[in-house]
Amino acid sequence: MYLKNAWYIAAWGHEVGTAPFARTLLDEPVVLYRDGDGRAAALADRCCHRGLPLSLGRVVDGALECGYHGLTFAADGRCIRVPGQRQIPPDAAVRSYPVVERHRWIWLWPGDPALADPGLVPDCFWNDRPGWRMYGEHHRVACHYQALIDIQLDNTHAPYVHPATIGSSALTSTPPRIERAPRSLSATRWMMNVEPPPTFAKAGGFTGNVDRWLLWTYLPPALGIFDIGVAEAGSGAERGDRSKGITMRTAHFATPETATTCHYFWSFARNYRLDDAAISERLDADMSRTFGEDVTMVEAQQRSLARSGDGGRIDVAADSPTLQARALLARLIEEEAAGAGRRAVA
Ligand code: FES
Ligand SMILES: [Fe+2]
Repeated sequence: MYLKNAWYIAAWGHEVGTAPFARTLLDEPVVLYRDGDGRAAALADRCCHRGLPLSLGRVVDGALECGYHGLTFAADGRCIRVPGQRQIPPDAAVRSYPVVERHRWIWLWPGDPALADPGLVPDCFWNDRPGWRMYGEHHRVACHYQALIDIQLDNTHAPYVHPATIGSSALTSTPPRIERAPRSLSATRWMMNVEPPPTFAKAGGFTGNVDRWLLWTYLPPALGIFDIGVAEAGSGAERGDRSKGITMRTAHFATPETATTCHYFWSFARNYRLDDAAISERLDADMSRTFGEDVTMVEAQQRSLARSGDGGRIDVAADSPTLQARALLARLIEEEAAGAGRRAVA
């Protein structure tokens, strides 16, 4: 069961143009396109006439024309044209999803449209604010979406999975301070006077030890946002002076596709030496490698669990953040289901 009343990333803005774009989200086939004004729209990818995927059609005058017999749909899902007849059957419509394009992503609300408040779209300002340079990717990943959230919130895997880029033993020897809020979970981890991980040493030109920070917030259902960086050891970054350091932001979103697959959207941004092409190239390549290593891990984990079953596993202290994140999402899903149940009874 998914949390339905929430914004999910459906696509990067650049993935969707005036040609229909098909994507399965939360087990539902969806077609995305841009209308005549360039606004993103999302409809159920199934024509209400004979069921053809509307993604096989085309956009004509800003509306989506089915590729089979030409019924045409507006962004709100209403059929506005039936070739060969004036009368449009009153129930000729497909489901329309609320969408918002923000921070270079197209966000889709799969739940009750009346609750789709654009103000609830999470703030990922580093994706498009002047003064920041962002690089990001999309991957279709063969794992349950929560496994992908787990690996982002479990930072102790980094020395083992990412030794060439961001891994360092300080991550395992410094437990995070976790803070719980009704709809979010945050972790603060400061690693003082430690060796910089390879990627950050090169990106910031550090030769000696650093103070390293890794601060994240989990926003259910599926977003982890990170404030990360390193500064010269003892230069006061922990007290708020980052002038001797480098700051980076990264966001990770896992939108369920099916029960066993998901869409992974990640972005990585920095706010220093934006015009330094060599740093851009190194960071883009290192992050692509790092988050690709995560994908390799979670897909292998899913194959293993599919073979051997879910039982017989143990938890360790480092699992605390991921277990708390899972408990938070489970509670929200339960509350949503209970609320829907109450509405159905009333
Ligand atoms: S199936 Fe779409 S118009 Fe007939
Ligand atoms: Fe990782």
